[in-house]
Amino acid sequence: MNEKLLKALQEQLNAEAYSAYLYFSMASWFESENLTGMAHWMKVQAKEELEHAERFYNFINARRQKVNLLPIDGPKTEWSSPLEAFEDAFKHEQVVSKRIHDLLALAIEVKDYPTQEFLQWFVKEQVEEEAAAESIVRKLQLVGDSKNALFMLDHALGERGE
Ligand code: FEO
Repeated sequence: MNEKLLKALQEQLNAEAYSAYLYFSMASWFESENLTGMAHWMKVQAKEELEHAERFYNFINARRQKVNLLPIDGPKTEWSSPLEAFEDAFKHEQVVSKRIHDLLALAIEVKDYPTQEFLQWFVKEQVEEEAAAESIVRKLQLVGDSKNALFMLDHALGERGE
């Protein structure tokens, strides 16, 4: 397998693990604010990110290459408001989408067809990931300073399925 592509796949596994860490950190901050519905939403998101990391793990293995786990950066731990946290989540997903697109461009450049096929799932997933985060950002903008509306949105986000 092309070495540069293998390195990029390993780095994306790490980026997905970092995403899980970031969302667990956001969950923890929401818990500290007693916004347990939003904390639940973030924990479900964090678990999804671990599944994304595992997809890279499994794919690298399936290609008979060795997974080398890289250190995970420490995430931010404090946010000034729920809006700021979800804005960060949305921005983070945009960064992840760009990473996936760059990875796909590299797989095309080195003519690695299995990796191109593997990444298609992530291209689609990122459209959903960005839309989900952006939708909550817009809801929080509508909520503004209303405590009632924030309470209702927190409750609604607590209903997210696993
Ligand atoms: Fe694994 Fe949220 O991207």
